Amino acid sequence: MKTSKTISITSGKGGVGKTTLTANLALALAMKGQSVLIFDGDLGMANVDLFFGTKLRKTLMNVLQEEAPISEIVCEVHKNISLISGGHGLADLQSLSFFERRSLIDGLNSISSSYDWIIMDTSPGISENVLYLNAAADEVCVIITPDPASFADSYALIKLMNQKYKRKKFSIICNQVRSPQEGLNLFVRFESVVHQFLDVGLNFLATIPQDQALRLANQSTRLILKQDPRSLSSLGIQQMAEDLDSRKHQNGRGPGRSIFWEQVVGVA
Ligand SMILES: Nc1ncnc2c1ncn2[C@@H]1O[C@H](COP(=O)(O)OP(=O)(O)OP(=O)(O)O)[C@@H](O)[C@H]1O
Ligand SMILES: [Mg+2]
Repeated sequence: MKTSKTISITSGKGGVGKTTLTANLALALAMKGQSVLIFDGDLGMANVDLFFGTKLRKTLMNVLQEEAPISEIVCEVHKNISLISGGHGLADLQSLSFFERRSLIDGLNSISSSYDWIIMDTSPGISENVLYLNAAADEVCVIITPDPASFADSYALIKLMNQKYKRKKFSIICNQVRSPQEGLNLFVRFESVVHQFLDVGLNFLATIPQDQALRLANQSTRLILKQDPRSLSSLGIQQMAEDLDSRKHQNGRGPGRSIFWEQVVGVA
């Protein structure tokens, strides 16, 4: 049984690249021989599956409604990558008894026990759902872009995660930048605002360029990493996977999978 590292890909503002980066990052890690479970925690528009050319028919909701055993909601979408979707079921977790909840956590724990990584895509925003799902992750990766609205909304997300869940560390992905320098500048500006008002630490995880090739790949629901592995955005995503992987071995792993599912199922 492995100890999985769990990360969330999140943002205050919508449309900044969460789903794209979740799917492509999973592929980058998978191509390095790592096994990845993607948890689609976007309650509104679960759409990671489209990138892998599948349409998930069963979600956690079917398990909650006793329409499917938990083993049936895990879908192998690529070598080394499986996908599981929360669907709208997450909202129904409230009604579970202690024993139902416990058995769900044990089930999720055992099906995810062979993965090195659990990567979660979230809905945008600062709703309670987004906050508690992020609270489950070992590492919260917040995407910011040069759009001032994304800057402000991600600041709000970090502030709330800090106030409500006492999170003190966040990783930042600068997406849709025109150059590595613009990415770095964006991070430095964001960090200075955050440090001025909040007692949290930020880690500069990655900078991914604005890339027309990625936009085109997305339009045909293809993974840029497959479509054009040498494009600038692909190189940025591969570098991010490299850094995450090397850091995982340097710093050891966080509380991991078991705590992740307890938080996902327990606090809803
Ligand atoms: N680095 C990039 N270069 C070019 N286009 C990008 C880049 N990153 C994201 N996009 C584009 O931004 C749009 C939104 O991407 P995506 O759906 O991944 O965002 P999201 O954060 O998951 O959105 P939502 O909040 O609605 O779930 C897509 O059209 C995608 O092609
Ligand atoms: Mg999305």
